[in-house]
Amino acid sequence: MAYDIVADIQRLKKEKNAVILAHYYEDGDIQDVADYVGDSFYLAKMGQQVQQDTILLAGVVFMAESVKILNPTKTVLVPDMEASCSLVKGAPYDKYLAWRQQYPDAVAVTYINSSAEVKSISDVIITSSNAQQIVESIPKDRKILFGPDQHLGRWLSKKLGRDFEYWNGACEVHVLFNAKRLVELIAQHPDAVVIAHPECDDSVLQYASVIGSTSRLLEEVEKNPAKKFIVATETGIFHQMQKKRPDVELIQAPVLDSGCSCNNCPYMKMNNMEKIKWALETYKPEVKLDEALRLKAKVSLDRMMDITS
Ligand code: 13P
Ligand code: SF4
Repeated sequence: MAYDIVADIQRLKKEKNAVILAHYYEDGDIQDVADYVGDSFYLAKMGQQVQQDTILLAGVVFMAESVKILNPTKTVLVPDMEASCSLVKGAPYDKYLAWRQQYPDAVAVTYINSSAEVKSISDVIITSSNAQQIVESIPKDRKILFGPDQHLGRWLSKKLGRDFEYWNGACEVHVLFNAKRLVELIAQHPDAVVIAHPECDDSVLQYASVIGSTSRLLEEVEKNPAKKFIVATETGIFHQMQKKRPDVELIQAPVLDSGCSCNNCPYMKMNNMEKIKWALETYKPEVKLDEALRLKAKVSLDRMMDITS
């Protein structure tokens, strides 16, 4: 009989009283074995609410850290502890602290794509699905320090007509989408709706009719009657888009070098079914956080949860 890893993972979930949360950028087989699939805000919220003893977060490590911060009595596992994010790597604690200290009176608004240490020196956390609501809740006379993703910040700043001080981080995947090639693609497919994640550069975002979080982009594909979409975000989300709309054509927004697969997030794609099975069998790798750090980081995450609830 052929080896059935899906059945094995389902059995382990029951035996270990575990739940799997997966991000839309994971491979389709991982999304299909998960109990909940969503954007980074949804995963944090579900991670806070689920009742099972063990939570396996199939995504990147900052997502699992957020769950551990919000729900510390659970065992939180990841398939691969090396699954980081260029935004986390580009915002080391010491440098971020020095930047933050230059503006002691400012409100530090920090993207969830950051380390627990950076969260611990932030005032409020945002994700791309709640950033607008959270920034709008901050009085207009307060200066805002926005990081680590400058592109998300610049998009928000333009949208809200508000100036920020930026950290100069970027998503190594979304910055590769190329505006010149996108214009050529739009000319070839004038009937396509262009949708983009706000981590893209403004040169790309200017051609998108819908800009939003992964869940917002999925919603657009689900509800917009158009038959063709040019999608400027990571390819993993095509799985849910195609499930919800098998009738539409999805075209990946182009990068400069058409031969590379660089619109796949290398961190999200470190995860696979074998690693998930192994993590459930061995309870490793487990996300552990120093309690003092967790409590400090929880303040800014709790604010996000309070404002968006
Ligand atoms: P979402 O919150 O929109 O899912 O984005 C997470 C992310 O890492 C995008 O690159
Ligand atoms: Fe980080 Fe970009 Fe990967 Fe999202 S797609 S996890 S922002 S590197």
